[in-house]
Amino acid sequence: MVPAPYRSTDRMILASILSADLGHLANEIDDVLTAGADFIHVDIMDGHFVPNISFGPHLTEAARKASPAYLDLHLMISEPLKYAPAFVKAGADALTFHVEAVSDAKATAREIRKLGCRVGITLKPGTPLETIWPALDDVDLVLVMSVEPGFSGQKFMPDALPRARQIRPRLRADQRLEIDGGIHRSTIRPAADAGVDWFVCASAIFDATDRKAAVAELRAALGQAE
Ligand code: DX5
Ligand code: ZN
Repeated sequence: MVPAPYRSTDRMILASILSADLGHLANEIDDVLTAGADFIHVDIMDGHFVPNISFGPHLTEAARKASPAYLDLHLMISEPLKYAPAFVKAGADALTFHVEAVSDAKATAREIRKLGCRVGITLKPGTPLETIWPALDDVDLVLVMSVEPGFSGQKFMPDALPRARQIRPRLRADQRLEIDGGIHRSTIRPAADAGVDWFVCASAIFDATDRKAAVAELRAALGQAE
């Protein structure tokens, strides 16, 4: 198991490098962590499971070299098990797979865990929650998508909130509930109130002219003082 560098609070802000300037990846990662983000979220897209292509193991390795920060990978790919070993070798701390991409979510979660990393499960906004219940015991994290996966900068889908509320009571104390898509200073608090504890932000942090102020605003909305 890879230990996460948890702070005393369990509400974490994850900066998604989908909106980073990749010509300066190491600087960008250093900058958002200095600005106060807790973890780095890496969106892996294969152009097949989602209509966009982003990063692979090579860039994950570059992110790993840039910082010891917790690397949370969101696998938006059709064959997560085929590529999972390469992502763990590249330095991922956690792999979150989409339930729509696999035939047996429970077995997939168990196989990923055997690789020595944390494992998460996620689902698209239109996928019934029932599809993830059989795998819940075998994951460290559930990710609720609050946009259609594929791109940063999309509008928050409020239907994610009742979904988070339904998931939360089914989780153990050691499991995390993460939300991804359209999280900014006015959507982060409703998400927290729905039981979410990990918040992924790409545009809200990377596109801000003052990233430190942006993270401080997110924390203030959560009621966390810096
Ligand atoms: C979308 C990705 C998100 C994305 C979030 O498919 O999974 O992680 O980077 O971007 P924002 O925060 O701009 O909505
Ligand atoms: Zn993501």
